[in-house]
Amino acid sequence: IVARALYSSSASSPIKRVAVVGGGQMGAGIAQVSATFEHGVTLIDVNAEALERGQKYMAKSLARVAKKKFPAEPNVASDWVEAVLGRVRPTTSLSEGVRSADLVVEAVVENIGVKQKLFGDIAQAAPGHCLLASNTSSLPIGRIAEHLDAEAKARTLGLHFFNPVPQMKLVEVVRAEHTGAQAIESAVAFVESIGKAPAVCKDTPGFIVNRLLLPYMMEAIRLLERGAAEARDIDTAMKLGAGYPMGPFELCDYVGLDTLKFITDGWFKEGDGLRGDKAFAASPKLDELVAAGHLGVKSGRGFYDYSASKKK
Ligand code: 3HC
Repeated sequence: IVARALYSSSASSPIKRVAVVGGGQMGAGIAQVSATFEHGVTLIDVNAEALERGQKYMAKSLARVAKKKFPAEPNVASDWVEAVLGRVRPTTSLSEGVRSADLVVEAVVENIGVKQKLFGDIAQAAPGHCLLASNTSSLPIGRIAEHLDAEAKARTLGLHFFNPVPQMKLVEVVRAEHTGAQAIESAVAFVESIGKAPAVCKDTPGFIVNRLLLPYMMEAIRLLERGAAEARDIDTAMKLGAGYPMGPFELCDYVGLDTLKFITDGWFKEGDGLRGDKAFAASPKLDELVAAGHLGVKSGRGFYDYSASKKK
């Protein structure tokens, strides 16, 4: 991983061409890191404006990386950014975008129906050897692949990236019951080829990180609800007392309170082995903020107010 962090080529991975479906922050981040490590990338979104936003996100993030990589050479830095961006081809056509891909990573809205339909369309249009991956954080890979034939199912798995994708080193490689050993092996090699560390796990709710992180975030909210401490003090405590880079409320605001609620409500209602688990029961405070449209950093207010400064 350290050697690869020099942004060398992706020569050791059998995957050369990556198609990313969804031009949001996660999709753009996945496209960016794939292109950084010399994969040819298509970024696909039905919405041309979303594609433009995704390209802006990549340009901004790459400029940040380039500034550190070439601190004394602004021209080299901007050439490097251009070269990486040049490896990402945006398109609004799914069939054209996945046609020659070795790997497709889906990063669209967390809606099972949308994903099931999309995976059917991708399986039809992509080459027969292509790996089919979902970046879902809360839906079972097995259900996303439910309507595919056995051969396509064997090539379907989870590749779960973390926000911000360019900075976070982990990718969970999720093995559903139907996923073949060869698919996992290729996915692990791909993850390593983009300078990240794979953690392989089964297709269980939350995989590893979110299964541990979400009960922690929900318990922090309940601590606040019980009046044990203020949000700022809880955040300070966990950053300085437990070494977390962000406190739980900063993290909730960063992930998005609507996302947190969507995931925990879903697991409480029908999560495999989690149904009725009180760790994921609704929180009045969270419900109140979401109902008021206070969704965290993206809406300008969540547990904290971001209207005055961009960063808390
Ligand atoms: N693009 C490129 N680089 C970025 C970046 C981006 N979008 N965001 C941050 N960075 C880089 C900065 O350039 C900086 O690099 P340097 O250390 O080499 O100078 C480094 O990250 C640190 O950034 P900052 O100094 O601006 O700020 P912080 O030190 O506060 O770090 C953070 C920001 C990396 C976001 C850090 O606070 C962190 O790790 N937070 C925890 C994030 C986390 O837990 N994410 C997982 C969320 S759960 C999830 O995604 C799962 C989902 O399914 C719900």
